Amino acid sequence: MKVIAVASQKGGSGKTTLAGHLAVQAEMAGAGPVALVDTDPQGSLSEWWNEREAETPLFARTSIEKLKADVERMDRMGINLLIIDTPPAITETIANVLTVADLLIIPTRPSPHDLRAVGATVELAEGLDTPLIFVVNGATPRARITGEAAIALSQHGTLAPSILHQRVDFASSMIDGRTVMELNSASKSSEEITKLWSYIHERINKMPVSMSSHISRSPKPANGFGAQMASV
Ligand SMILES: Nc1ncnc2c1ncn2[C@@H]1O[C@H](COP(=O)(O)OP(=O)(O)OP(=O)(O)O)[C@@H](O)[C@H]1O
Ligand SMILES: [Mg+2]
Repeated sequence: MKVIAVASQKGGSGKTTLAGHLAVQAEMAGAGPVALVDTDPQGSLSEWWNEREAETPLFARTSIEKLKADVERMDRMGINLLIIDTPPAITETIANVLTVADLLIIPTRPSPHDLRAVGATVELAEGLDTPLIFVVNGATPRARITGEAAIALSQHGTLAPSILHQRVDFASSMIDGRTVMELNSASKSSEEITKLWSYIHERINKMPVSMSSHISRSPKPANGFGAQMASV
């Protein structure tokens, strides 16, 4: 199992949007079973998941105290990918999440405020040796600041080549628990997510050692996820 954390100190940068979209896209692309964890007290991801009709991705309810043990349990249960959404602050929660993460995704809007806020998240990830990828989100097509933000970010770490633009369906699709791909698989926003997932997938596949490979494995059960995999 690979574990992806989505974090950034800046509120509204697109953490929850990305966590939900990447989980659904990973599942659609055959990288499942995918599970989601929401560590943000605002609970936006769990609210989205509660509105969802589709059964996948799974949603795992846990707490920071139990996170490590639950991550290990999900791995043993046969989850292939876990995506963890986090709150918009540098808190102990994020530090805890990063200790179980193989990769950190930092969504950043192309604005000076967002760019200034990136430093704290990057420092935390570097301190814990967690590889990171920046994703520019909410870009305005053809705006010069997008290119400038991309250059600034790439000086601090790896920048995903697929930029997510400001498109109303990223917000509207999530109202009833869906994603842009489930609204219209041929839309520009769907294409952006598909490309972004391909890139991230390639990155995590190339990672030789996953956190979960340190965990002793036991045979995968044939059915269900037991009491630990619960809907909220
Ligand atoms: N690319 C986009 N195009 C249009 N709307 C977007 C885009 N990305 C995010 N949004 C909208 O912007 C708002 C903030 O996004 P989101 O909730 O994903 O950010 P967040 O980082 O999780 O916020 P918080 O820090 O509060 O947890 C939401 O209303 C979401 O629907
Ligand atoms: Mg959020």
